[in-house]
Amino acid sequence: MRPIIIAANWKMNTLPSDAGELARQIAAATPDPGVIRVICPPSVSLAPVAAALAGTGVAVGAQNVHAEKSGAYTGEVSAAMVAAWATWAIVGHSERRRDQKESDELIGRKLLRCREAGLRPILCVGELLEEREAGRAVDTVRAQLQGALAVTIREGLGVPADLVVAYEPVWAIGTGRTARGADAAEMAGAIRDTVAALSDAATAAALPILYGGSVTSAAIDEFMAEPSIDGGLVGGASLKVDEMAGIVARAGLTAAARLEADAAGDEGATADPASGASR
Ligand code: PGA
Repeated sequence: MRPIIIAANWKMNTLPSDAGELARQIAAATPDPGVIRVICPPSVSLAPVAAALAGTGVAVGAQNVHAEKSGAYTGEVSAAMVAAWATWAIVGHSERRRDQKESDELIGRKLLRCREAGLRPILCVGELLEEREAGRAVDTVRAQLQGALAVTIREGLGVPADLVVAYEPVWAIGTGRTARGADAAEMAGAIRDTVAALSDAATAAALPILYGGSVTSAAIDEFMAEPSIDGGLVGGASLKVDEMAGIVARAGLTAAARLEADAAGDEGATADPASGASR
């Protein structure tokens, strides 16, 4: 069974002086142990957020890592540096693809750096509005995955075993306009097919896929209702304690329901050997 994950992407918001307190409040308001919770503050706030979250069960993530291990890259932050506080990292966010012109090859190298530093990567993929309107959404996302994972495969890592993919249609980010659950589910299917072709069916089946783009406590249900979606990457709403409380609580209901369905399925298989079904 795949885990349910809610990751908060604070982007370039909060100050080191208030980030720890916000993280503490979110942790206190999201007590659900059935949901993996990750908070990704700006890199200068990793230390206070890590201190605030110690012992809460909420993990710390970085919003980015550099594609090189170390060296003459003024102003940049390496995976090993953020790993002093973080255990997760977002890579390939669409705002960085747009503003820093990050290529799939560069993003693939960031996945390598995450592995070396022991950071669990959340690889963001997603199409532009014009790509969706032209019927090229799936092709775009497939190419993004293939481009980044070609690097990890070439370097002998394969598809990283701990990889998480966040499907974030660019037109849904920060716009208040979400994708439809069915479209996100269709894309999740395409993502797993692509990963299966690059590795194997078991790796694809175990891959957690999150939806991102204007997720709120009111919008999350549409995505959690899709069995192929395993949580959310939350931007704007993740800065609001009440919103995070609602989102994690809603995701927790799905986590509990999936656990129950899984257990019932197992019992069913044992209780009814005559059915010939094997799980
Ligand atoms: P949003 O951002 O929730 O504000 O749309 C999501 C993201 O960019 O990860």
